Parts: sequence; C-alpha cells; structure tokens
Amino acid sequence: MSSIPPTARGLEGVIALESRLCRIDGERGELVYCGYDIRDLARNTTFEETAYLLWHGELPNRGALEDLQGRLAAGRALEPQVIELLESAPSSADPMSVLRTAVSALALVDPERDDASPAANLRKAIRLTARTPGIVAAFDRIRRGRAPVAPRSDLSTAADFLYRLTGRVPGEAAERIFDACLVLHAEHGLNASTFAARVIGATLADMYAAISGAIGALAGPLHGGANIEVMAMLEDIRSSGQDPAGWVRARLARKERIMGFGHRVYRTLDPRAAILRDLLVHLGEERGDRTWLDLSTRIRDTVEAEKGLQPNVDFYSASVYAMLDIPRDLFTPIFAVSRMTGWTAHLLEQWSDNRLIRPREAYVGPSDRTVPPLDDRR
Ligand code: CMC
Repeated sequence: MSSIPPTARGLEGVIALESRLCRIDGERGELVYCGYDIRDLARNTTFEETAYLLWHGELPNRGALEDLQGRLAAGRALEPQVIELLESAPSSADPMSVLRTAVSALALVDPERDDASPAANLRKAIRLTARTPGIVAAFDRIRRGRAPVAPRSDLSTAADFLYRLTGRVPGEAAERIFDACLVLHAEHGLNASTFAARVIGATLADMYAAISGAIGALAGPLHGGANIEVMAMLEDIRSSGQDPAGWVRARLARKERIMGFGHRVYRTLDPRAAILRDLLVHLGEERGDRTWLDLSTRIRDTVEAEKGLQPNVDFYSASVYAMLDIPRDLFTPIFAVSRMTGWTAHLLEQWSDNRLIRPREAYVGPSDRTVPPLDDRR
C-alpha cells in the first residue's frame, strides 16, 4: 500500500500563511487586531477607526480618520442597477443570498474593476465597506414594501445603517452599542470565510469575486449563520414556554449542536462573547427587559455543565441585535457588513505578496482500473 501523508482534517492546527492583521490566543481567550486588544478597541475606537487600522496597520490620526469617514460617507449611495436588483429579488429571499448577489453585482458597476493596483484595491475595499450596509438595509425595506432610505453623510456607519433600516436616527446608546458590535466582528484571522476570500484572491480574481465567496462561506450555520440559529433557539424556548435546561439537554441527547457554543480556536471564553454579554446587560438595564439575558444565562450554564463548552461571538450578539429591533434574518448580513473590513484587509495583504493557495489531497480512491465497454458495466 502506498504511504499516505498525514492529513489535517478541516486544516485544524495548520499554519497556512503569515499575517499582520490579527492574533488569537485560544488558550488565554485573547483577540488582538494589529497589536491592539479587542477590549481596548471595542471601548476606545469606532468602527471607522478599526477599519483604518486593518487596512493600514496603524490607527488613524484625526485627519486620516476624517478623510476615511468622508470616503465611506461618499461611497454609501447605491447605484440604480443595484437598487433594481434588490427590487427584483422575491420578498421571501434570504437576505444573505441577496447580499451575496448584490455584492457580486457591484463588480458590474465599478469603473475600476480591472485596475488591480494597491491604491485601486484599497478604494474597492472602502467602496465595498461603504455600500454593504445600504444593501442590507435597502433590501429589508423593499421586501416590506417600503422605499429605501437615502444615506446621510453626517452619520457614522453604525448610525447610518440603523437609520436606513428604520427611517429613524438611532439614539446615542444604540449607535454606540451597534458600533461596538461592528468593531468586535471586523476581523478574526483565518476563519472559513476569510480563508475562502484569500484562496479566491490568490488566483488574482478580483475583490468582488473573493468577497462574494467569503459571504457564501459566512452564511453557513457553523460559521456566521450561527447567530440566526441562536435567535431561533431563544425564540423557540421562549414561545414554547419550555424549561431552557431541559431544552438544551434534550437537544444534546439527540447529539445535536447548540448554536453559539464551541469554537475551533478558543479553548476558553471567546473574548468577544464576554464584551457582548456586557452590552446585553447594559441594554437590558436601559430597557428594563432581561428576557434574553436571563434565558441566555440559563442556556449557557446548562451547556457549560453538560458539555464544558463556552459561548462564542454569535451567542450574545443575537440577543443584542434583537434588542436593537433588528430582524433576525439580518444578523448574519450584519456580520458581513463588519467583516468586510477584515476580508478586504486580508485580500490587500494577500496581494502584497501573492502566492497561489493550492494544497494537496491524499488520494484514497481505487487504483489501476481499466475502462470496461459500456455494455459490460453494472
Ligand atoms: N454543541 C454541542 N456540541 C458541540 C458544539 C456545540 N455547539 N461544538 C462542539 N461540540 C462538541 C462536538 O460534538 C464534539 O464532541 P465529541 O468529541 O463528543 O464528538 C466536540 O465538541 C468537538 O467538536 P468539533 O466539531 O470537533 O469542533 P470543531 O472545531 O470542528 O467545531 C464549531 C467548531 C464552531 C464548528 C462547533 O463548535 C460548532 O458547531 N458550534 C456551533 C456553531 C457555531 O456556534 N458556530 C459559530 C462559530 S464562532 C463564530 C463564527 O465563526 O462565525
């Protein structure tokens, strides 16, 4: 028998490339973007500052930040063709599929699509980050029979998104909490969607192709799609009046997963989950409503006791978004709104020193066969 080289199922533990963007210590529960701890960034920077950090490796000074804010605001308006595409989607369409399709369509209306210079690619990263929130908000309004809301250049990315979703400028607290959520989801190393983006980008396909692939990967319930499943679980337990501990135990007994728990890298609490829980506590106090917090705590305690698993980023973000009155099926698209910065930063890094990503597989199928005549085949 020929020797088969060892394989790493799911590429677990494989170091595929070097990156300056993010360090994750799964044992200690640390997440660091470009040298800055995520707790520091969530508390002391805005989404725009974090985006700049990921694209440039340094935090912006005031002038650079104002410049980026201006570029993002100027890039928010959607082309008529993109609005038409959103209008042509069935109102029952999955918003993640609509987002993937619309982002792919942005390639058709980008005059710079064929310019692969680093400066043009940075402009595409900004354009994608500017347009994506509007796509998510506009589709939500269109499917409800409402007109899309035009962007406001005086609002932050977080406030403009909530404004274009609801038609109302959010209060300061809602804006700050949503902005922190965007910071927390912006980057996370070589996760499945970022890896997908880098694999596509490494073929020298354009940014829109790579980002469309990344959105496809993020949609899966084992990745970003988990936040929608978490909310479905919370709503199911609440509406059925079941005991949360019993619900969890029954599911585990059927060998089913509890969404929002476990992680490929973290062996302890995901630091983003700790921050999101604090935000949920804050929102609960502010609104005088502890429903999701109390339910989440019962679920967490049971999963921890039964399986020794800790919540990941998707567990508490679901409740935070629900308390911000965001529809459940927009939770994963919002993840994409934020991760757009991390994906595009990885692509810029990939193209700064490109090498085709092409691993090998260990062939384990049959050998030495000859083709039999058609009539002799079973
Ligand atoms: N519920 C129940 N059991 C679990 C879970 C879970 N959520 N996660 C892992 N396990 C168990 C799994 O069954 C296995 O047990 P056993 O050894 O008895 O068979 C053990 O833990 C190891 O699991 P694994 O599948 O080998 O771990 P993995 O590294 O492949 O999985 C994961 C990582 C995130 C896919 C998994 O934890 C999971 O499916 N979680 C639920 C989905 C989820 O919340 N995804 C979001 C991930 S974080 C944010 C993001 O990437 O978007």
